[in-house]
Amino acid sequence: MSHPLKHPVFRMVGEIADRMQLEAYVIGGYVRDYFLERPSTDIDIVVVGSGIDVARQLSQETRSPVSVFKNFGTAMLKYDSMEIEFVGARKESYRASSRKPIVENGTLTDDQNRRDFTINAMAFGLNGHNFGMLLDPFDGMEDLKNKIIRTPLDPDTTFSDDPLRMIRAIRFASQLGFDIEEKTWEAIVRNKDRIAIVSKERIVTEMNKIIMSRKPSVGFELFDRSGLLSYVFPELVRLKGVEKIRGRAHKDNFIHTLQVLDNVAAESDNLWLRWAALLHDIAKPQTKSWNDAVGWCFHGHEVVGSKMVPAIFRSLKMPMNEKMKYVQKLVFLHLRPIVLSQEEVTDSAVRRLLFEAGDDIDDLMLLCRADITSANDAKVKRYLRNFEIVKRKLEEIEEKDRIRNFQPPVTGETIMSTYRIPPSDLVGKIKSAIKDAILDGKIENDYEQAYRLMEEIAAEYGLQKKE
Ligand code: CTP
Repeated sequence: MSHPLKHPVFRMVGEIADRMQLEAYVIGGYVRDYFLERPSTDIDIVVVGSGIDVARQLSQETRSPVSVFKNFGTAMLKYDSMEIEFVGARKESYRASSRKPIVENGTLTDDQNRRDFTINAMAFGLNGHNFGMLLDPFDGMEDLKNKIIRTPLDPDTTFSDDPLRMIRAIRFASQLGFDIEEKTWEAIVRNKDRIAIVSKERIVTEMNKIIMSRKPSVGFELFDRSGLLSYVFPELVRLKGVEKIRGRAHKDNFIHTLQVLDNVAAESDNLWLRWAALLHDIAKPQTKSWNDAVGWCFHGHEVVGSKMVPAIFRSLKMPMNEKMKYVQKLVFLHLRPIVLSQEEVTDSAVRRLLFEAGDDIDDLMLLCRADITSANDAKVKRYLRNFEIVKRKLEEIEEKDRIRNFQPPVTGETIMSTYRIPPSDLVGKIKSAIKDAILDGKIENDYEQAYRLMEEIAAEYGLQKKE
């Protein structure tokens, strides 16, 4: 392991602090991640005194611009691909119902006391006399070795300072594969209602880190067991449970969803694909029904589920942009490849799927493959075999017809200018008839053939060409 303070910037900060007769330390995630051998470029520096003054001086010496947040007493500087954040040491005192700290100057120990976990409270000295010395008052090193998440103070105090820390505990457990110490865990369960004062944005930042962990189910199971998930994401909790009629039970859709999420996580680092996995069956509770002939049905859950996506994103204050639309589309289409595999696969059905999925077809297939979970091995094998057939067929047809980013060769503009008609339903009808004919294999994906078809349809509607 190379030295944690190898980069010259640490000496520079130490020398500035010496000159100003202040103490400076690297603290928190950078120190933790150094010992975990997870290289980090986010550096938190705590100064006993004004962090802003030290940051300004460093900014001059490195000629790097600094952003100062006076209200919070913090400053941020980007230097040599590092983000260095400066803060003055604080005695924490958060107001009970607010996120905004009342800043009171404190010592390094005061500052370490107010940190979230023992593993995040370790600091390296930067001044000349203690450069590189580890200051670890809560034996965070021991917790790091034993893989334990524990608060430095009484957990009720640490969590009431900032209730988001309850979710952070779960996030670190999931991300690092650590266990939450018993008293810390009990305090999470006891204080879960306090999460209500935390903004959705901060919660989602942590939740996304759980989703991005190697095995996200670990985090979501803790999230659920703590009772926090019901506050944050009730739709997911509703997936829990199994009902039985005449000895026939359906899957527990919460467990299934987490398994699918883990499966996707093993194959892809795409956050939004992982979100699609989390939401793919979200409407199963609403669409559940029993049918004597076939057993449990969740008819249309992909349609209802995709309609729920915007409301879920909105309630979590997540972006309402193309990421949301992507998740929505994958939820909507998630059954299609498997449905295809259960029927005689026609070229036309495969072309339609390619057309609708477009560039997201590979992600859809990954999701669909991840969705094949069953305790019944024979069933899994059968599904997988069929899935492979559909996959090959998709490749074959894409190779042949290039449907993926297909645009009908005759555009709306061509139709309007050929017949001198304004934009109208009729233009749309002709266009989609051409598209359908191509997807159904009645004509080829070719301008001449599409133009001829346009002429035929237009004639049926009594349209005349205008020269
Ligand atoms: N911290 C805290 N309470 C919080 C958030 C942060 O005490 N609610 C402290 C911890 O000491 C933490 C440091 O601030 O190590 C930096 O926080 P942050 O950048 O959010 O997390 P990291 O620990 O750096 O972890 P990561 O980089 O994985 O987000």
